[in-house]
Amino acid sequence: MKSTVLLSALAGAAAVSASPTATTPMKPRQASMEPITATGNAFFKGKERFYVRGIDYQPGGASANLDPLADIKVCKPDIEKFKKLGVNTIRVYSTDNSKSHDECMKLLQDAGIYVVLDANNPKYSINRDDPHGSYNELYLQSVFATIDAFEKYPNTMAFFSGNEVIHDLANTTLTAKYVKATDRDMRAYIKARGYRKILVGYSAADVTSNRMQTAAYFNCGPEEHRSDFFAFNDYSWCTSNFVESGWNIKVKNFTGYGLPIFLSEYGCNTNTRDFKELESLMHSNMTSVYSGGLMYEYTMETNKYGIVKIKGGDTRGGLDQTGAREELQPEFDNLVKAMKTYKAPSGDGGYTKETKVSECPPTDDHWLVDNNLPKIPEGAKKFMTDGAGKPPGLNGDGSQWATYLASTEFEDGSTGTGSGTGTGAGASESSSAAVRGMPGPFDKTPFVVSGVVALMTLLGAVAL
Ligand SMILES: *[C@@H]1O[C@H](CO)[C@@H](O)[C@H](O)[C@H]1NC(C)=O
Ligand SMILES: *[C@@H]1O[C@H](CO)[C@@H](O)[C@H](O)[C@H]1NC(C)=O
Ligand SMILES: *[C@@H]1O[C@H](CO)[C@@H](O)[C@H](O)[C@H]1NC(C)=O
Repeated sequence: MKSTVLLSALAGAAAVSASPTATTPMKPRQASMEPITATGNAFFKGKERFYVRGIDYQPGGASANLDPLADIKVCKPDIEKFKKLGVNTIRVYSTDNSKSHDECMKLLQDAGIYVVLDANNPKYSINRDDPHGSYNELYLQSVFATIDAFEKYPNTMAFFSGNEVIHDLANTTLTAKYVKATDRDMRAYIKARGYRKILVGYSAADVTSNRMQTAAYFNCGPEEHRSDFFAFNDYSWCTSNFVESGWNIKVKNFTGYGLPIFLSEYGCNTNTRDFKELESLMHSNMTSVYSGGLMYEYTMETNKYGIVKIKGGDTRGGLDQTGAREELQPEFDNLVKAMKTYKAPSGDGGYTKETKVSECPPTDDHWLVDNNLPKIPEGAKKFMTDGAGKPPGLNGDGSQWATYLASTEFEDGSTGTGSGTGTGAGASESSSAAVRGMPGPFDKTPFVVSGVVALMTLLGAVAL
């Protein structure tokens, strides 16, 4: 097992260097995959502008919590479909940092497909009801272990430091500083470990009341505090058009924003989908501000956004995703057609070369958070020099209970839990609300992470 991992890691390294040596005892590989970088408000693949033309991929959905990139029997048939669709990027929400991803990542690389990964998962994530306590050593160890697991692949495009942790309730904005601290720590870890500069940013929920503040927040403050990009999930285009969907306003509002932006989920399922979103995303209406998006989503799950059905995937808790793949029509072919018709534009798309820093948003009724970030938890500092150690995987004890390993100090030297408003942590009322699920656009997404976390916290509390 170990030696296989080592060999593939070497193979990966060889693929990165431009000229393979004559002694390399490997079959010929396709041209190496250039890493994606960010300049100003755009992504680049070498000298060429790069647009995310992708799809969200999580067979079994949140509840199965299955890593599709750790099992060749799952990823292989899907990569065939990705090729047919013509996508260049996938997002995977749940990956197991204790497993090898060599085989699937290699197949994706051969298909020219980049991967964007969520660095947290239901058991290792920021708990919306106790953001301070859940920003702790064990949480960061898991996040860093995920970076360790994927940094070696040239087609790892980016990591998300959080998904939809901030919602439409004003008090969920209190989680923002812990997500931003995680984002900061991830970039610091990548640097400290001497890894290639893999991009790190946040994936925001489709919430109008705090979207602009969230975007500004993740791009304000000193350099080490600022994300490499911003992404948000968008469910406003329902077989409509650029103006009716309000995307024209979302371009206007984000004009002048200094980082690359893309849609980490887009879609709507109230009509037959024609994926004309892609026409606008690739049009000069948007390309000076946006860098594409990920269609939500590949597999058909209970929330009914998928374009491929996996036989038996909805039985046995979603734990077996190896069944036959059925293309769901007309949506599958519609996406193939849209990908073919609405190509990435040539040229630079009118991007802005300079990285512009945002002003930190002032606190108001919708935005309760200040800019005083927690310092990295004392016990997590060692990971910077020693590495993350043994990866906990997806089924470990989780990290939310380890509140005694949380950060103890803020950057301004103050101590406390930083909740500020006295609304208190771990309120069981809000936990059960989160478990029931609140109405709103974010419910369409597969991972309302802190809802699951809240459930676990509740169960944990009951067990105690
Ligand atoms: C755009 O900005 C305006 C003014 O700041 C704001 O009222 C509106 O909600 C924003 N719209 C979106 C879709 O973000
Ligand atoms: C581009 O913007 C114009 C003006 O808002 C709109 O009429 C047109 O439909 C848009 N086209 C696309 C492809 O987004
Ligand atoms: C947030 O507000 C809701 C509704 O007002 C409340 O039920 C919940 O306990 C609050 N949560 C936190 C973490 O303060």
